[in-house]
Amino acid sequence: MIELRQATKIYRKGRIEVKAVDGVDLKIKDGELTVIVGVSGSGKTTLLNLIAGLDTPTSGSVLVDGTDLTKLDNEQLTLYRREKIGFVFQFFYLIPTLTVLENVMLPLVPLPMSAKEKQERAMRLIEAVGLADRINHLPGELSGGEQQRVAIARALVNDPPILLADEPTSDLDTQTGDQVVELLRRFHAQGKTLIIATHDERLTQIASHLVRMRDGKIVEEA
Ligand SMILES: Nc1ncnc2c1ncn2[C@@H]1O[C@H](COP(=O)(O)OP(=O)(O)OP(=O)(O)O)[C@@H](O)[C@H]1O
Ligand SMILES: [Mg+2]
Repeated sequence: MIELRQATKIYRKGRIEVKAVDGVDLKIKDGELTVIVGVSGSGKTTLLNLIAGLDTPTSGSVLVDGTDLTKLDNEQLTLYRREKIGFVFQFFYLIPTLTVLENVMLPLVPLPMSAKEKQERAMRLIEAVGLADRINHLPGELSGGEQQRVAIARALVNDPPILLADEPTSDLDTQTGDQVVELLRRFHAQGKTLIIATHDERLTQIASHLVRMRDGKIVEEA
């Protein structure tokens, strides 16, 4: 269970203050498929970053399975991210000089596991996203949809319970985007808590939990 209590994130640039997330109260139950929808600048990415422990709120708290992230030090936050969170970014953020297999294995590097086991786990995920015949390709040799599937495999290789996807389809054509959404839904059906941030109204259809944001605030929840 994820719970935000009066979570607020204020960015200051000189004299200008932006409340990217403004007093958000939100509960997300295990196994839900939450879609956070809103126009550009409404605070979706900031909200995901707070849940992922990639950013800390200016005030308020973020609790995940009872642990208050705002009370963790950097080392504990790193462990939290490693164990609980898979994050799929809008622009994939794959390492261009590493192969598909190496990119997917990356999150396993710090784990106490044999090289063989790491490779087997990465291969299982690469097969699950349908890229077994691309393991030695570099990201630049893949289509956008294939790169996003590598990013999904990498996000899930640690088997985290929570999968966050920030605009997973916005850089893709409609058909490729639909395939990526189907893939995310498949992992959700296998038990992941899935949170998708998007400006694509079509994705509200697949939500079991819909959160609409405007100016950093939740303006609709269903
Ligand atoms: N690092 C930062 N420094 C200053 N302001 C920021 C920073 N990150 C975000 N903001 C501001 O916070 C607000 C919310 O940004 P955020 O990226 O969360 O929105 P978003 O809903 O994800 O938008 P998009 O759909 O364009 O991705 C915006 O007004 C943005 O300009
Ligand atoms: Mg964003």
